[in-house]
Amino acid sequence: MDPDFWLERWARGETGFHQSQPHAGLVRHWPSLGLARGARVFVPLAGKSPDLHWLAAQGHRVIGVELAGLAVRAFFEEAGLEAVSEPAGRFTRHRCGTLELLCGDVFDLDRGTLGEVAAVFDRAALVALPPGLRTAYAAHLTGLTTAGTRTLLVTLEYDQSRMAGPPFSVHESEVRALYGAQHRIGLLERRAPPDAARFAQRGVTDTMEAIYALERC
Ligand SMILES: C[S@@+](CC[C@H](N)C(=O)[O-])C[C@H]1O[C@@H](n2cnc3c(N)ncnc32)[C@H](O)[C@@H]1O
Repeated sequence: MDPDFWLERWARGETGFHQSQPHAGLVRHWPSLGLARGARVFVPLAGKSPDLHWLAAQGHRVIGVELAGLAVRAFFEEAGLEAVSEPAGRFTRHRCGTLELLCGDVFDLDRGTLGEVAAVFDRAALVALPPGLRTAYAAHLTGLTTAGTRTLLVTLEYDQSRMAGPPFSVHESEVRALYGAQHRIGLLERRAPPDAARFAQRGVTDTMEAIYALERC
């Protein structure tokens, strides 16, 4: 997906993917990862998601990566937080307390800029990318993590011929093909997504949301 696609969506306020509450699957399943309170959590393609606040409220240090400066500014402003900003390689780092957002392209991220992370939360990130980019994204994320890193991954499954993404349909076979070589993968649940009505409006009535726990080998 061309970066301009996302920048224009943010500029036009076309952010139907944004939720006002933390993702229910995150709240249900995060404790099963068994992370320590101070553990550092990476949220790729973060938007201005309330999931970041929820993770910080669990005692985690949170680092998100987001392309759109507008989303990053809105994230802090809407929470009444004043972030300190500084250049960090090809990114701008915005930090307030235990919340950090790197503004830039996730594909430019290296381990030095990201730092050590114990866990990853991926909601509307893998599924935001077209098929051709998903292989590169999964390999890149794997390269940014180390043995023992835990990931909670949320995907969507529907008949791709009924609707053009994003969000794209990513079935379990693809998750296993993308991550199976270097992760232990467990399917935690598969159920209708909380925003099923949004898909129904686009003519897709059989959407399922799947949540996986991954552990990097
Ligand atoms: C579908 S939204 C999901 C946002 C967030 N995860 C959520 O749950 O609300 C995808 C986000 O990824 C951002 N994005 C897309 N491509 C990106 C890239 N290459 N690097 C960093 N962010 C990107 C977009 O600007 C958008 O905010």
